[in-house]
Amino acid sequence: MTPMPADAFPIDAVRAQFPALQKAGEFIFLDNAGGAQIPQSVLDAVTRHLVDHNVQRGGRYDKSRAVDRAVAEARESVGLLINAYRPAEICFGMNATSFIRLVSLGIGQTLGERDEIVVTDMDHDANIATWLALESAGAKFAWWRMREDGTLRAEDLVPLLSPRTRLVACTATAHSIGTIVDIAAVSRAAQAVGAEVFVDGVHYGPHGLIDVQAWGCDYLVCSGYKNFSPHMGFLWGRFDALKRLPTFREDFIPDEPPYKVEAGTFVYENVAGMDASVRYLEALGRGFTGPSTGSRRGDIIAAMAAIRAYEAELSREMLRQLKACGATIYGIADEARVHGRVPTICFNIPGRSPQAIADAMSDAGIGIRDGHMYAPRLMQRLGLPMATGALRVSMVHYNTIGEVRRFGDALAAYLRHSGR
Ligand SMILES: Cc1ncc(COP(=O)(O)O)c(C=O)c1O
Repeated sequence: MTPMPADAFPIDAVRAQFPALQKAGEFIFLDNAGGAQIPQSVLDAVTRHLVDHNVQRGGRYDKSRAVDRAVAEARESVGLLINAYRPAEICFGMNATSFIRLVSLGIGQTLGERDEIVVTDMDHDANIATWLALESAGAKFAWWRMREDGTLRAEDLVPLLSPRTRLVACTATAHSIGTIVDIAAVSRAAQAVGAEVFVDGVHYGPHGLIDVQAWGCDYLVCSGYKNFSPHMGFLWGRFDALKRLPTFREDFIPDEPPYKVEAGTFVYENVAGMDASVRYLEALGRGFTGPSTGSRRGDIIAAMAAIRAYEAELSREMLRQLKACGATIYGIADEARVHGRVPTICFNIPGRSPQAIADAMSDAGIGIRDGHMYAPRLMQRLGLPMATGALRVSMVHYNTIGEVRRFGDALAAYLRHSGR
């Protein structure tokens, strides 16, 4: 299957499917790492769920059975999205952080001789602080540090591993500086010493193909609201790993994945939205594969390949614009190396306040993020104060080259007119 070249990406057709983009007019969404917009088909699925069967699951009447069916279908879809071994490995809940906490509490009860956990200084704090909280359970920690060029290399992980390593917790992609991590290499290294791998897939999810089987990891979390879906999260774990994991559950809940992980009621309508967001990607993929493949996973693969190619163009253009404005770019800044990143770019303008720039961009109708990006350890590594931090522009596949240029023009105009 050959993905379409980036310049053939159906950007107008994509944008037409997102009501928020239509309604926002000239406003430019460049804070997508904080949460993405939602296609009409996802909104429709949420509404349909609320109107047609907004009842509790597990009943014998039709509407309740429809909820059971909707959740089962969503498990199937999300399983395809990430290439799970089976749908029962997909657990739904509130968000990624609460799932990381849930898994960490289980792991904390089973440390024994293997009491070391590897964390990184590039991750979102949700995938660091949660693990560090296991100190009181006797956990010891090893820090896997990113390199000066903003990459996190599996070869630097190897010396940190030993038969005492219980788990490596790392991101698939930095939500702050956009670096992609080679999770398959991480899993190979971890498995060589019998350790498990917990992947934060939150930021990679909207940008590239997740394949937990090829990656060889043990757990993965994602947030639906970064994946063109409403606020919800999901956890994937190898069935046996989830089966072994101690979790809290009421006595009437079977000790079986996914039920043992999903205490209480979750937001069914948002899970229905997550299902629809996977189907949105499939439909996008069918535009590249044609209607005849008959493979939902094949369509997802095609969609994510096309998204990667298109987003590489967005990254290249954004890097050019930022350099023209004299920005200090944290992480991969070479246009020839954009394959190692997603279009999430962290920067500062020397001598300027990130907050003033974010305000000025807001005045220009452009939403960007300033501050510490929920990554205190990374801020420290970059020598940036927590109070001010940096700026981040984060794009997804509905952004356009034209928007990137408009942002570059607005930034240049602000810098010209505001002086020092
Ligand atoms: C990489 C990464 N991990 C974890 C989180 C936390 O996700 P949630 O809000 O679903 O708990 C975020 C949120 O921005 C994130 O970007």
